[in-house]
Amino acid sequence: MPSDAQTRQSNEAWGSRIGLILAMAGNAVGLGNFLRFPGQAAANGGGSFMIPYFIAFLLLGIPLMWIEWGIGRNGGRFRKGHIPGMFGAIWKHPAAKYLGVIGLVIPLVVLSYYTVLMSWTLAFTWFSITGDYWGLTTQEQMSGYLTSYQVIGDGSVHAPWVPIFFFVLSLGSTIWVLSRGISAGIEKLARIGMPILFVFALVLAVRVMFLGGGENGVSPVQGLQFIYQPDFSRMDEPTVWLAAAGQIFFTLSVGMGTLQTYASYLSKKDDIALSGVATAATNETAEVVLGGSIAIPAAVAFFGVAGAMQVAQSGSFNLGFVSMPIVFQSMPFGQVFGAMWFGLLFFAGITSSVAMATPIVAFYREEFGYRRETVSWIVGLVAFCFGLLSIFWFEYGFIWEWDYWAGTFGLAVMAFVEVVLFMWVFKPETAWESIHQGADIRIPRIYKFIMTYVTPAYLGVILLWWGATEALPFLRLEGGRGAGGAIPEGGEVYVHVSRLLILAIGVFFAIMVRIAWKRNRYDDRAGFVEVEDTFLGTIPGREVAR
Ligand code: TRP
Repeated sequence: MPSDAQTRQSNEAWGSRIGLILAMAGNAVGLGNFLRFPGQAAANGGGSFMIPYFIAFLLLGIPLMWIEWGIGRNGGRFRKGHIPGMFGAIWKHPAAKYLGVIGLVIPLVVLSYYTVLMSWTLAFTWFSITGDYWGLTTQEQMSGYLTSYQVIGDGSVHAPWVPIFFFVLSLGSTIWVLSRGISAGIEKLARIGMPILFVFALVLAVRVMFLGGGENGVSPVQGLQFIYQPDFSRMDEPTVWLAAAGQIFFTLSVGMGTLQTYASYLSKKDDIALSGVATAATNETAEVVLGGSIAIPAAVAFFGVAGAMQVAQSGSFNLGFVSMPIVFQSMPFGQVFGAMWFGLLFFAGITSSVAMATPIVAFYREEFGYRRETVSWIVGLVAFCFGLLSIFWFEYGFIWEWDYWAGTFGLAVMAFVEVVLFMWVFKPETAWESIHQGADIRIPRIYKFIMTYVTPAYLGVILLWWGATEALPFLRLEGGRGAGGAIPEGGEVYVHVSRLLILAIGVFFAIMVRIAWKRNRYDDRAGFVEVEDTFLGTIPGREVAR
């Protein structure tokens, strides 16, 4: 059992409800909304993607949102802000804590490469302000510019220190905010960053609608039609359904462990039912309304529908990093709009990246009594080392391996485990009641059925399908392809290293969990001791203790 001082020291709380929702929305709204979504939608046929997408939102996204808030708040009763502890609180079995280890591995892995992606947006903000890419007006030229930035050994445009510099800046600012804590760091960032993000996105969406079109002369409205016109012709393709489910996981940040950590700082008197859907709705607005109105219509106006689909299929970042810069160069004040676009991406990114390390920080504070600042900077250092691998081994698809195994497949695995634990081990009645404690709304009863049966079954099917059609072939490197596509000559070893590293991180955290449980003399069968409540309304806008 941790000492009293330790318990108090690891206490955190949200300052206000609006701050909490903004932070939760900041967690969910990220690069996924403005880059990944348009890319996935375009690559999967626009209107044919949106139907499976909405079904996945209703049957997977919203239920998982409630489940994760529920798991998190329940963990908070025992001051457990990390998944091993939360699982232990639900399932009084020695294996629960080890299952929870995926909730430490995924966030660390994703943090390490997500901050690298973020650093591209920061760099391109700078390149827009300075007009660095002005003059590169064809897709070949612009994608050459992007590749030269991504591939560190290619010094044709920028010196190799430039990408590293922007990476340090991105990761450093993330860790700095994180080290200031939940209320003074993350919540404050969300209060500033989220409004800026929405304003930038709105301005860009409006501006894009007035695009005259490039040599194609196509109206951007055709881009909207491409997304919004229902198209049933590809509904029988499993890949479209899998892509839609994968996008829902990624964009809502479910299956990672971070929403749970955020929710663990709430009490049983706080509402989670309404706040959960409010967060999901905010994210979907940012994704479908705003995210759908920028990159795709702009690309369609310039390259036509077929051209835009082609750009999207050629790489998930090409709509944002290749076609958008071409569009900006044709606009008056293009440098300003370019800076707004990439700046928007950076803000979206940082309000998400600060969330990723929180489960690990919670783990070390709560179980080992370390100071928040200390853990934050150590996690930063570790993420820096791993991030360098993503940068130096970019050509071998190291980053895409991590993105696939932790950021795509891993999320579905974690979501499946969670649903089973919360709805089946904890029991539907308990789960339903737990979600409704302090609730401002009553969730329609049909959702109890959905969460108990439909969501786990849906997830099970997806996992099996994914396993058979993607994961296994990737694992075996069938046809010389890994998760990042064709592997270049001699690149197999890097692919193996990337996967072994994930496993090694898992082993490391499993050992840490074991040490923590021994050290604190937890009895798996008896469960944890409840701590006193920290009700959102009773804390005058501050953390209770540092
Ligand atoms: N939802 C984020 C995005 O759209 C990405 C993400 C996935 C994430 N899982 C997360 C962010 C966990 C923070 C925490 O870009």
